[in-house]
Amino acid sequence: MKWMLNLSLVLSVLIAASCNKGGADKIVIGNFGSLTGTEATFGVSTRDGIILAMEELNKNGGVLGKQVELKAYDNQGKPEEARLSVEKLINVDNVVAVLGEVASTRSLAGAPVAQQNKVPMISPSSTNPMVTQKGDYIFRVCFIDPFQGEVIAKFAYNTLGLRKAAIFRDSKSDYSMGLSKFFENKFVSLGGTIVGDEKYAAGDSDFKAQLTNLKSKQPEFMYVPGYYTEVGLIARQARELGVKIPLMGGDGWDSTVLKEIGGEAVEGNYFSNHYTVEDPRPEVQNFIKNYKARFGTVPDSLAALSYDSAQVLFDSIKRAGSVEGPKLRDAIAATKNFPGVTGVITLNENRDAVKSAVVLQVVDGKFKFKETINP
Ligand code: PHE
Repeated sequence: MKWMLNLSLVLSVLIAASCNKGGADKIVIGNFGSLTGTEATFGVSTRDGIILAMEELNKNGGVLGKQVELKAYDNQGKPEEARLSVEKLINVDNVVAVLGEVASTRSLAGAPVAQQNKVPMISPSSTNPMVTQKGDYIFRVCFIDPFQGEVIAKFAYNTLGLRKAAIFRDSKSDYSMGLSKFFENKFVSLGGTIVGDEKYAAGDSDFKAQLTNLKSKQPEFMYVPGYYTEVGLIARQARELGVKIPLMGGDGWDSTVLKEIGGEAVEGNYFSNHYTVEDPRPEVQNFIKNYKARFGTVPDSLAALSYDSAQVLFDSIKRAGSVEGPKLRDAIAATKNFPGVTGVITLNENRDAVKSAVVLQVVDGKFKFKETINP
C-alpha cells in the first residue's frame, strides 16, 4: 500500500511539474492572428515567420536547454475572437509569451488579457501608439504611426512635390484612423492642404459614392491607409471612375493578394513599409532564402517582423535565464541593438522600436524600393 501512495505522490508531482511553465520539458509560446478572412495573408505570414525562427532555434538546441513549441490560434480577423484567443493561450496552453497581433485593433483587444496575467506580449507589426500603452507587459518590434504618417507626408510633399491630398480612411480600424490623422498633421505642417476626407468601413465593397466625392475636390493624390482587400477594390473603382492621381498608403497594403484584387489599378502607387526584399544586408538575404526554402514564397514584411519578434523573445528568455513573467518582461524591456531582419531593434521607454521606414512603389506587380526615411 505504501508504494502505491508513493507512486501517486510521484505522479502528482510530475503532473504539477509539467503544468508549470518553468518545469515543463518544452517552452510553449503563443500566437493569435487572422489565419482566415479578408486579412488572412497577415496571419499566415506572421505565423510562418515565427515557425521559421523557432525551427532554427530548436535545431541549434533550443533555449535554456529546452525545445520551443508554438500554439497558434485563428481569430478570423475579429477583435472579440482575438481577445478569446489570448485568454485560451494563457489559461489553457500556459504560454510563456504571446506574439501578435498584426492589426492594431486586434492587438488592442488582446493586450489587456496579457497585461492582467503578467504574460509578455510582443506585437510584431501593430503600429498604432495605443497598443503598448495598454501596459508594461506589452511590446512591439516595429515603428509607430506618428512616424509612419510622416513618411508618406514627406515623400509626397518633398520627393514628389505634391500639395493637395485627399484622405480615404477605414472607420473600423484604429490603425487607419490614427495613421490618417498623423499623416494629415505632418502634411499640413509641411504646407500641404487636405482637400477631401471620406470614410469607409472594413468589409465594404462599394466605394464609388465616396470616391466620386473625393474626385470632385481635385486632389493631387489620395491617401488610403487601409488593409489590402479594401485597398485593392478602392484602387479598381477609383480607376473605373477616371481617378488617375497616385494612391498612397501604409504597411497595410503589404500582401501578395493586393495585386490579385487590384490588378492594373494598383500599378504605380506608393506605400510605406518596414522592409524591402531589395535590401542587400546578409541578415535580410539569408532570411529570404531560408523562408523561401521552407514555405515556397517570398516573405512579406509581416513574416520579417514576426521572425524578428520571435528572435527578440528567444534572446530575452536566454538573457532572463527564466520564463517567469516578470523576469521575462524585464529582459524584453532591456532589448538593445538586436540585429533584426527589419533593422536594428532597441526598445525605448514606451516599449516601442525606433526604426527607419521604406517607401515602395507597385511596379509590374512587384514592390519596388523608392527611398528610406529615417526617424
Ligand atoms: N501596422 C498595421 C496595424 O497596426 C498592421 C500591418 C503591419 C499590416 C505590417 C501590414 C504590414 O494595423
